[in-house]
Amino acid sequence: MELLIPHSRVEFDEVAIEAVRSVLQSGRVATGEKVHRLEVELEARFQRPFACVTSGTAALHLTLLAFGIGPGFRMAVPSFICPSIHYCLEYVGVKPVLYDCGRLGIGVSSESLEAAVTGSDGFIIPHTFGFLTDFDQRLMKGRLCIEDCCQATGAMVDGHVAGTRGQASIQSFYATKMVGSGDGGAVSGSPELIEWVRSRSNHRGHDDLICRYPYSMSDLHAILVHAQLEQLPRNIDLRRRIAERYVSEFSDLPIETPAITSPSVWYRFPIITPVPRDKLIKEARQRGIGFGFGVRTPLHRLLNWDPACFPNAEKAMRNLVSLPIYPGLKETQQEQIVDLIRQVVTHP
Ligand SMILES: Cc1ncc(COP(=O)(O)O)c(C=O)c1O
Repeated sequence: MELLIPHSRVEFDEVAIEAVRSVLQSGRVATGEKVHRLEVELEARFQRPFACVTSGTAALHLTLLAFGIGPGFRMAVPSFICPSIHYCLEYVGVKPVLYDCGRLGIGVSSESLEAAVTGSDGFIIPHTFGFLTDFDQRLMKGRLCIEDCCQATGAMVDGHVAGTRGQASIQSFYATKMVGSGDGGAVSGSPELIEWVRSRSNHRGHDDLICRYPYSMSDLHAILVHAQLEQLPRNIDLRRRIAERYVSEFSDLPIETPAITSPSVWYRFPIITPVPRDKLIKEARQRGIGFGFGVRTPLHRLLNWDPACFPNAEKAMRNLVSLPIYPGLKETQQEQIVDLIRQVVTHP
């Protein structure tokens, strides 16, 4: 069933459509000048060198390889995250040390992170749902820190851009993301890291047996990422306005919402209600509205770790839903979403 109000929706303006047309007409759609220009643009915008690849997962895989991560390395990873993080650890033969998320599934539970990191050689910090995650930088001492910015492209607080504190960070440009180009991703970090990633991400056109990966971004995707980046500040602003409305509309209901002062690009608007999430998602679907899970099943459940050690992820798994929040979401649609939540929460 096609939803009247999907959970996510990406829009391309005429400038983007024209740009794609010009790449198609040039007959050069593989990795080339457009990818190179995008990397230069990303560095100028986010203050660090970038290498573009095919996905956030490819970005993390290459980052782990670049740092020589392999069996025996202990990597602390949030439980409330998509399974592709775990796939990457599997690719390089690493077992995760899991830690709990914070309130509303966002970021980290400081205590849990500290306990996990103490026994680890490195850790991954997520900027979940677009919220900039703060963490004690003392944890980085002698350890590898990778920031996962896949849900937070463009997040900034006090002039600090998400993805500039760890030794590396990863981005996703998947269709539903802040900068959605269908598929795509990027690594950022030191010039040496970026050189290494570039040297291994394209398996074509070489005459040696250095192991390379089929992870190169096409010019067609690069032009779409560029178009979305142009729209990013405006889109963050539009998302924020919807967040303001949700926060205000739900203030008299027994619902946990993020604070509007949170440093966020408002990629998602997570709420915790007294109603079980599956029931709420089903009711919304019946009315043509797409609510999301955030994370369907946290890693600690998939890996059979003790649920008692992950109280925030457990609560999010039972009661968190993610509401539609994207630039093209009309006021009447926002109203429908608010009305539905109000009805379900007041008459469960
Ligand atoms: C937090 C996070 N990390 C990594 C990824 C993986 O990115 P991709 O889907 O581009 O491989 C995602 C995508 O869903 C994500 O949300």
